[in-house]
Amino acid sequence: EKIQLFCPATIANLSCGFDVFGLCLDTIGDEMILRKTAEKGIRITQITGANLPLEPQKNVAGVAAMALLEEINPGFGFEIEIHKKIKAGSGIGSSAASAAGAVLGINELLGRPFSRKELVRFAMKGEALASGSEHADNVAPALLGGFTLIRGYNPLDIIKIESPPELFATVIHPQIELKTSEMRAVLEPMVPLKNAITQWGNFGGLIAGLYTNDYDLIQRSLHDEIIEPLRGKFIPNFELIKKSAMENGALGAGISGSGPSVFALSKGFHTAQKVAQAIQDAYKDTGIPFEIHVSKIN
Ligand code: HSE
Repeated sequence: EKIQLFCPATIANLSCGFDVFGLCLDTIGDEMILRKTAEKGIRITQITGANLPLEPQKNVAGVAAMALLEEINPGFGFEIEIHKKIKAGSGIGSSAASAAGAVLGINELLGRPFSRKELVRFAMKGEALASGSEHADNVAPALLGGFTLIRGYNPLDIIKIESPPELFATVIHPQIELKTSEMRAVLEPMVPLKNAITQWGNFGGLIAGLYTNDYDLIQRSLHDEIIEPLRGKFIPNFELIKKSAMENGALGAGISGSGPSVFALSKGFHTAQKVAQAIQDAYKDTGIPFEIHVSKIN
């Protein structure tokens, strides 16, 4: 018995939702193949597209899979093949795609003992290995699709958020690496009250805008006064990319996860394409190779 999976990339944070909000991208992702084996435990048999460890305890997919098996302990095991398309450290949830894919595949081969929401806590164990923190804002949207809110971590409370029909994401995915653990180390542990007030006002506005198809409210809300000022300087041409995206009609633009990928949200495919062209032009002089994608948000 085997299963072949598409493991989607994700945009975490979406400007004002640091560690609590994420979005699934249906057009970028890895491929994974999982097989049941008579021998118990997890084996990673093949990884293409990236230089990652095959030892399950050192691999995010392996760690997530083992966390699931600890709870269910079937009389057989699993083999995992990973074909990476999402570059590690790119800010679009490379580790989350592998962790989510591993637990989803195993759950399917076991006859779905867990719901997708329940799978998040296993996938988070893999994420912790990669970034040093158990954030769920990539693994939850990778498992649930669309926009996903992590209302709380203790206990985990995950909510799928509706979105307007004409919303598109443009993502530039540079082929360089910024480690999430390092990009978390540059953050300040304390937030001034006035910035916190702005941030929760914006986050409430973003959720309200998504539910009521109010593109103008989404535009007013897509800002980040807390994280972006500390991380933006590590991303080549970040301010220029953002400015070009906004000048070409994007509703908002910001760092995807911990970077270096940058996202923009737009109303309509035509605008999202125009924004893609503008971002490309703004990035060109860095000399860094990149991919650019436009995805409809489902
Ligand atoms: N919320 C996490 C961070 C996402 O920004 O550090 C990492 O992809």
